[in-house]
Amino acid sequence: MTPQENDVLTRTGANTPMGKLMRQYWIPAAMSKELAPDGAPMRLMLLGEKLIAFRDSQGRAGILDHRCPHRNVSLFFGRNEYGGIRCVYHGWKYDVSGACTDMMNVPNAAELKMRVRARAYQVEERNGIVWVYMGQAEHAPPLPEIEPTLCDESDIVIRFTQRECNWLQAVEGELDTSHVGVLHLGAVAATALPSETGDSMLVANKAPEYVLKETDFGHTYAAYRTMDDGRKYWRIAHFLMPFWCMPPINALSTNVLARGYIPMDDTHTMIVAIETKGARVTNREGSVTGVSQNFPYLPNTTDWYGRWRLRANMENDFEIDRELQRTKSFSGIEGVQLQDHAIQVSMGEISDRSLEFLSPSDVMVVRIRRLLLRMAGELQETSQTPESAVRPELFAGVRGGHYIADGNADWFEAYERQRDAAPPPFAAQTAAE
Ligand code: FES
Ligand SMILES: [Fe+2]
Repeated sequence: MTPQENDVLTRTGANTPMGKLMRQYWIPAAMSKELAPDGAPMRLMLLGEKLIAFRDSQGRAGILDHRCPHRNVSLFFGRNEYGGIRCVYHGWKYDVSGACTDMMNVPNAAELKMRVRARAYQVEERNGIVWVYMGQAEHAPPLPEIEPTLCDESDIVIRFTQRECNWLQAVEGELDTSHVGVLHLGAVAATALPSETGDSMLVANKAPEYVLKETDFGHTYAAYRTMDDGRKYWRIAHFLMPFWCMPPINALSTNVLARGYIPMDDTHTMIVAIETKGARVTNREGSVTGVSQNFPYLPNTTDWYGRWRLRANMENDFEIDRELQRTKSFSGIEGVQLQDHAIQVSMGEISDRSLEFLSPSDVMVVRIRRLLLRMAGELQETSQTPESAVRPELFAGVRGGHYIADGNADWFEAYERQRDAAPPPFAAQTAAE
């Protein structure tokens, strides 16, 4: 990749090609529980923009540019009062739509009020997540039908985690399945993993082969390994525009999960992981060393980068334990996601892709770069909103996961059969019980 291409892919500010592409899609901005009615305004950094999120007295969430349109004072210091947020400098007040509803210091302000607007983005809330649309509000499509985001809040686990690197290297980590058998499971014996599910193949054969297919929501790929009896162990995963991944953590039948890699700015990413409680049950936690799913967070602060940071970070070498690395775990870093976190941050804030030496195991990474470059270029040239941004149903029913299937079947048809036969998400299972 050229440095220019790397720049296009990694920069997401308002006037960049990738920034414009991302602004065509809904973005998960916060957890609903982070905003209390009339509670303190929250600093929110998204796509390089400094925003303020708040919830008004009626429970409506609002996301505004943090600068008061009067003279740029930060609304972070504002008073979240009845029905809106009031700037403390001269008392101008704005509702969630950005309308100015009061001007304390201006006589006969009725007419002037009509002419002032805080810059407000379209906000929607569904099942515990506050979504924002950072394009032009009048073009906002319905929310995407990403499977776990459709499940009732009580049936899912939502986790936000900040990662101190560019969004794309985080996405690429998710679309690079061969590292699972090395970074995460490199010190695990095949006998420690179940063979009935095919899981033991993950470490028994660390060099899978790949098949790929572009789809109307993004891109799908699968890694396969041929078993002794001729059947194949499949791990299928998806990239959904513009920053979502569905990795094959669990068997496809239970793997109702998605992870969004949201650029806060070009060097900080907020990972939004949403999974059903049903998906969590089958995690390998407890059975082998170094794969726990729990890791300590630092207390949140009000800073632009203060939300959902991990205790383990570059300053403490991600709490690497060299003794553990020698004896029990491949990386010496505890926890699958912390391992991903550490190695991705170690690549630098924005990885210099002109220095890479790619191999066949990077085939999906290459496909995604091409897809994103093409889509950003097309948007730039035609100004036409991509189909996947305006058709939320394209995301419906997409699910990653692993399974064993007949050796000769067409792989994509076999995946569709698996998916169609899979039980509905946890919400529906609970209802049926
Ligand atoms: S700067 Fe906000 S009211 Fe004057
Ligand atoms: Fe990983």
